[in-house]
Amino acid sequence: MRRPKISVIGAGFVGSTCAHWAASKELGDVVLIDINGESAQGKALDLFEASPVEGFDSRLLGGSDYALTAGSDVVILTAGLPRKPGMSRDELLATNAKIVKECSLQVARHSPQSILIVVSNPLDAMCHVAMNASQFPRERVLGMAGILDGARFRSFIAMELGVSVEDVQAFVFGGHGDTMVPMPRYVSVGGIPLMQLLSPEKIDRIVDRTRKGGAEIVNLLKTGSAYYAPAASAIQMAEAIVRDKKRYLTCAVYLKGEYGVQNLFCGVMAKLGAQGLEGVPLLELNREEKVMFEKSAAAVKELVDAMSKLGV
Ligand code: NAI
Ligand code: 2OP
Repeated sequence: MRRPKISVIGAGFVGSTCAHWAASKELGDVVLIDINGESAQGKALDLFEASPVEGFDSRLLGGSDYALTAGSDVVILTAGLPRKPGMSRDELLATNAKIVKECSLQVARHSPQSILIVVSNPLDAMCHVAMNASQFPRERVLGMAGILDGARFRSFIAMELGVSVEDVQAFVFGGHGDTMVPMPRYVSVGGIPLMQLLSPEKIDRIVDRTRKGGAEIVNLLKTGSAYYAPAASAIQMAEAIVRDKKRYLTCAVYLKGEYGVQNLFCGVMAKLGAQGLEGVPLLELNREEKVMFEKSAAAVKELVDAMSKLGV
């Protein structure tokens, strides 16, 4: 296969949609791995057979053997169970921790220089599992959630104002859970601060819908969780890396003192380029934002501690 080489572990809804977008954007050649190897092989072949029609030039392979992934530049880890209605992301903890550990060990063995983008839930805790298993430095283990939560925030603002999503810039900090921290003070719509366009009550309603955005889709789908927006978000990270774009994107980063948080994955603004994490630009948080961010980091810490107690 040619480089850049992107491997996607887990060929379910999120994984196969990631493969679709990675190939159609010609980010590189793509390998799709699943415990159900024939399904991954079938999806990769089906996608490759779409390429003459759609006119994209990406080779695709699928299977269960990690040898196919050898020497990958970027690996997107989506293996694991999704949520069902009424289930929190945290309830996936023990099952997905085992899966993510097993997959990360394989990734480290076959692609020791790769940059790992974790998607499996509960996201921030799974980033810890992936980093511990792979032994990769923090520059090469990133979690996807902030772009997704920010995209939901941006969509709801655009819907409320009746404007194009293209003009809405917004982001969400914190862990990928109920305590996430949408940041209305930093939202701009065509350069205009949101506070000048919407009442505090309307902004509060949008913030609340953003926090519950994942559950809203789970309740509609009934058998699984969102995948188009999550896959688009993971691919935006992969693109920033393989094209060395030096983008500012929110993602889960292993914090080493930034925002007063030590040795914990949490969602913040990050600079992404060919080296993976290339910087953590520090934003000024006001008192209220700081309290919410600390609460969210504490919720992530609780999950990480629960994992240690479970021995995973
Ligand atoms: P899915 O059930 O459609 O796909 C999961 C795939 O993982 C299945 O094909 C399954 O066979 C595979 N798998 C299970 N164990 C494996 C192993 N040991 N090795 C390789 N493959 C294995 O689920 P979906 O919708 O694709 O979601 C995947 C994960 O992503 C879930 O944990 C979900 O909660 C999470 N997610 C996270 C988001 C985020 O913002 N971070 C957003 C959306 C989903
Ligand atoms: C989401 O936010 C389930 O974490 C997933 O859609």
